[in-house]
This record gives sequence, structure tokens and C-alpha cells, in this order.
Amino acid sequence: MKITEALLAEHVVFHNLFDHVEKIAPTLKNLGEIKSIARLLEAMLTAHSEIEDQFLIEPLEHCFEQLGQRDTFHQEHQVIDRHLVQVQSSRRINDARRGLLEAVLASRKHFDKEERLVFPLAETLLKQQTLTRLGNRWIRAGNS
Ligand SMILES: [Fe+2]
Ligand SMILES: [Fe+2]
Repeated sequence: MKITEALLAEHVVFHNLFDHVEKIAPTLKNLGEIKSIARLLEAMLTAHSEIEDQFLIEPLEHCFEQLGQRDTFHQEHQVIDRHLVQVQSSRRINDARRGLLEAVLASRKHFDKEERLVFPLAETLLKQQTLTRLGNRWIRAGNS
């Protein structure tokens, strides 16, 4: 499997999770509940970003630099993180809920950009063989 296909498959799981969080967020009445959903989202996003950085962004780093996109990418991950950190420090349920929904919105934008620009760019710039080799490393990393 190519690394781009693997990451896209992870994105599908996230899209379902984002839909679910957006759907239930308005109904949550408990601050602790919102915080634990934010922690779950954070753990899943961190795992995904680490894989993405290691297996896709690093091999493409030189191209991103040329396009002036390198820092933008890391910044987008940080913006999502900041919203999630804000949820944890919120004392009021509405602040926590807003932070959670903003994190989901920022994630959606970031994921969309990766799907429209980054994955197709990787498919053009990296050889098929390289994409498959990275995909195989992704499988092994998940099983270790
Ligand atoms: Fe990302
Ligand atoms: Fe991603």
C-alpha cells in the first residue's frame, strides 16, 4: 500500500470522528465529558501527525521548503493543538465546547488541504516505489 493511501484511510476515520464530535458537542452538559473527548481527539491526532511527519513530510521536506509551505504545515498542527489545550484549561462548559469545535474545524481545514494539495504533491514528486516503501514502513510501525 502507498503511504498516501494509508494516510487517506486514516483521514476517513477522522472525518467520521469529526462528524460525531460536531453532532454531540451541543448536547454535552458536563465539562469533564468535553475534556475527555478533547483528550481522545488529541491522542489520536498526535499519533496521526507523528506518522505523517515521519513518513510523508520529512521525505517531502525539501519540496515544501521550495513552496514556502514547510512552516505553514507545522503551524497548522500547532493551531489545532492550542485549541485542544484551551479545552483542558477551560472552567466554563461553553468555553470548553467552543475550543473543542474550533479544534475540529481547524482539523477539517488542515485535512482538506492535505487531501487536495499534499497527498497529490507526494504522488507526483515521489516515485511509486518510494511511496510503497514508506507505506510498508507505516504498516510495520503500527505493528511494533
Ligand atoms: Fe497533518
Ligand atoms: Fe493528515
